[in-house]
Amino acid sequence: MGKEIYYPNKDFSKQARIKNMCEYNDLMEEAKSDYEGFWDKLAKEKIDWFSPYTKVLDESNAPFYKWFIDGKLNVSYQCIDRHLDTKKNKAAIIFEGDRGDKETVTYLELYRNVNRFANLLKNEFGIKKGDRVVIYMPMILEAAYAMLACARIGAIHSVVFGGFSAEALRDRIEDANAKLVITADGAFRKGKAYMLKPVVDDALSKGCDSVEKVLVVQRNFEDITWVEGRDVCYNELVKNQSNECEPEVMDSEDPLFLLYTSGSTGKPKGVQHSQAGYILWARLTMEWVFDIKDNDTFWCTADVGWITGHTYIVYGPLASGATTVMFEGVPTYPDAGRAWKMVEEYKINQFYTAPTAIRVLHKTGEDEPKKYDLSSLKVLGTVGEPIDPPAWKWYYEVVGGSKCAIVDTWWQTETGGHMISPLPGATPIKPACATFPLPGIMAEVINKDGTPVEVGEKGYLCITKPWPSMIRTIWGDDERFKKSYFGDCVKDGKPVYFSGDGAVVDEDGYITITGRMDDVINVSGHRLGTAEIEAAVKKHSNIAEVAVVARPDEIKGESIFIYVVLKEGDGSFGINAELAKEINSIISTEIGNIAKADTIAVVPGLPKTRSGKIMRRILRAIAKGEEIKQDTSTLEDPSVVEAIQKAVNG
Ligand code: WTA
Repeated sequence: MGKEIYYPNKDFSKQARIKNMCEYNDLMEEAKSDYEGFWDKLAKEKIDWFSPYTKVLDESNAPFYKWFIDGKLNVSYQCIDRHLDTKKNKAAIIFEGDRGDKETVTYLELYRNVNRFANLLKNEFGIKKGDRVVIYMPMILEAAYAMLACARIGAIHSVVFGGFSAEALRDRIEDANAKLVITADGAFRKGKAYMLKPVVDDALSKGCDSVEKVLVVQRNFEDITWVEGRDVCYNELVKNQSNECEPEVMDSEDPLFLLYTSGSTGKPKGVQHSQAGYILWARLTMEWVFDIKDNDTFWCTADVGWITGHTYIVYGPLASGATTVMFEGVPTYPDAGRAWKMVEEYKINQFYTAPTAIRVLHKTGEDEPKKYDLSSLKVLGTVGEPIDPPAWKWYYEVVGGSKCAIVDTWWQTETGGHMISPLPGATPIKPACATFPLPGIMAEVINKDGTPVEVGEKGYLCITKPWPSMIRTIWGDDERFKKSYFGDCVKDGKPVYFSGDGAVVDEDGYITITGRMDDVINVSGHRLGTAEIEAAVKKHSNIAEVAVVARPDEIKGESIFIYVVLKEGDGSFGINAELAKEINSIISTEIGNIAKADTIAVVPGLPKTRSGKIMRRILRAIAKGEEIKQDTSTLEDPSVVEAIQKAVNG
């Protein structure tokens, strides 16, 4: 672990909300001594309640924890209406298109646009509180309007990332039983039009009986097929709607949205989030981790299809009354200076991105940041995967000019917002280290039985007390929720939330994330389940057996390495580019291009225990080119290891 420590910028600390470690420790102490009191105070201060809650936390049906019982609120009201008195003409969202087109939307305009969208959902489609709406959209303003419009009328949105295939979209529509799909003809990427609507058509061509209508936003105006009676064009229809729409009165615990994510089995999980707890934490983390101030411009480069886009493009910044930037394109087009040009142009104060993007920008444009005035930057953030020290250093020195704190934020779809992160004005930072839990978050690295791990030893990263923005359940599958998150670790005899990640704690108490301990892999910050990919590969008619593992990758963090055993082969083994093409084409149909493999190896067999369990550790080691250190004597056929090595290494 690096001993190097980077102290917060003194001028920044002076004006920060949390100014030093004493203040942090005080907050933590407060939370520890009176947990409910701590959250009660924050919930009263940070949420405009329509009517107050009667109890802070209900643990009676653990792990189905409930927060702010009987409280009434509306999340779109928190994000928009609440600001109109003081900020109606402030920029809420600054949009920049791939080709450089720009649009700024003030809070008052956002209010009108969201209300019109909400009225459209109600009046044209009969969408009511509790109905599910799937949003399959590019990074355009209407994606944010759609989410907020659902929140306004109490519909539950489920945003599906635009990179997912028709099959993946269909699975998600069916699991949620969605009534409406909101999409766009397509959008622009790297100067060219790309399409989304045909994917929706394909998804709806089989099953999906719950879907009544498809609302299509025209963005690139390319030709698309319109299905009579089902497809409705947004652009004209929305103009006729009223600018006013009463926010639905929602209970704290009503579901706000579902977001599907990968787990260790083949079927993605519909992570269900609540209203009050989620929006409270979205706002608080904006204030604590990004130290967002009224005049700041905040840019998170994620896609709204992921949790990072939900919490830190839409809900968090707007709940804090900030100005948030939404960008349709990619940071390397037209050149590797695009992101820095935008930072200069909009005087971005907080910039939040994934390590993969940092590695790409570093590799393709090491000196690009120097060409722009990046002096507006105050806080830099990373999320989604471990960052390596060289990328961290470049980000710190060249992008941040050695004056900005880097907040390496660890969290998950399930946690709703940041859990472990430096505080930019307080925490002495060790590079590539998530440091300490945020105030009120009881994150601990423990053994399965709840005992603490030794310094430097890997343990299970758990959250040992419920927190307001936590996942409430897996949509339609309470049992799976319990088993997935509360089935592995206990503390003081009680099941606690296990994140799926491993971590180590150093002698100073700093937490470093070591990565997933389950069969989830992380390619370019995209979370993928090996079981999901394996299920896709099995659709190839000549595959008898398959095992998917991750291999470290310089740019993507991890890449996908697939071992296959053929039903009928010609007896030759090894890396097979021809088969890779076939298999990747299936993967891109079943899941999407983000899950394509870099390497396919045809092997004579897989290393299995006598009970038939595949020993993935061996396969990972071979993919990495490592020596096999573990005991292979428990394998049914130990000789298979050598045969696989021979096949892979030639
Ligand atoms: C990983 C993304 C190291 C981790 C917000 C986690 C990280 C998974 C970090 C969640 C970080 C996230 N350092 N690893 N700072 N942040 N991860 O649900 O393995 O898409 O479990 O949420 O990303 O991915 P998800």
